[in-house]
Amino acid sequence: MRLKDKVAIVTGAGAGIGQAVAEVFCEEGAKVVAADIDADSVEQAARAIRSKGGAVFPVHADIAQEEQARRISDEAVKAFGQVNILVNNAATFVLKGFDATVEDWRRSLGVNVIGTTMVTKYAVDRMKAFGGGAIVNLASISSFVAQPNFFAYSATKAAILQLTRNMAMDLAPFSVRVNCVCPGTILTAASSRHMKNVGMTFEQFNAEEGAKTFLKRVGQPREVAYPILFLASDEASYITGTSLMIDGGYTAQ
Ligand SMILES: NC(=O)c1ccc[n+]([C@@H]2O[C@H](COP(=O)([O-])OP(=O)(O)OC[C@H]3O[C@@H](n4cnc5c(N)ncnc54)[C@H](O)[C@@H]3O)[C@@H](O)[C@H]2O)c1
Repeated sequence: MRLKDKVAIVTGAGAGIGQAVAEVFCEEGAKVVAADIDADSVEQAARAIRSKGGAVFPVHADIAQEEQARRISDEAVKAFGQVNILVNNAATFVLKGFDATVEDWRRSLGVNVIGTTMVTKYAVDRMKAFGGGAIVNLASISSFVAQPNFFAYSATKAAILQLTRNMAMDLAPFSVRVNCVCPGTILTAASSRHMKNVGMTFEQFNAEEGAKTFLKRVGQPREVAYPILFLASDEASYITGTSLMIDGGYTAQ
């Protein structure tokens, strides 16, 4: 049990990568606070984890609202007594370029950058009180490479990469490590929505996106959850301020 007795907050835990992280963390002995803007999906994800014996507490919260971002950590302490790990996974996908409106930009930055920072601010207060912790942020290959008509999203993921470095510097004196993972194309609700928007079947999408990787396929949520588990665990005790590509080789060529 690599996370025995740890309390972890996972945002966006009602679907996709966040749901897989919540599952894997519970399998490794963590008590998980699963936060999501979608109350039904996070309740359902929590029920599935509990049915396998996991300790999970669902919280309905929009991370873009500061009071709700703060409440996630308050609820974690109420439910499980402390906060040791935070996985900043929740994000909104504004996959647009110059067609993004000011409102689109506000939403993209409000959730992905400001919301992530607010959740972290309040979780860090708790981590400091309990002797330190580990934070894993979800950046992306989009933090590094250009993709067509994508920059309203990519700008926020590039910000996450730099926030990770800055937070790692500022939080090191408090024994809080901060790292990020950078997934390539992973099969989740978000990528299914994207497939639909661009009018592709899964087979077409897998072939087209897979062709950009060494491994010739898209990834699965658990293939991101396990590297996050490593970075959140004490096995990564000398790793902070770094980014880990999880992209089947996409950015290595
Ligand atoms: N899927 C990919 O191909 C991919 C690639 C690179 C990076 N990522 C990153 O991984 C993370 C998860 O992506 P995913 O594909 O699993 O997404 P997803 O859309 O499948 O799931 C995201 C979850 O976050 C929740 N959420 C959205 N806005 C929220 C808010 N304001 N407050 C609280 N919860 C909110 C959603 O309700 C949903 O349950 C994101 O940060 C994304 O940028 C995904």
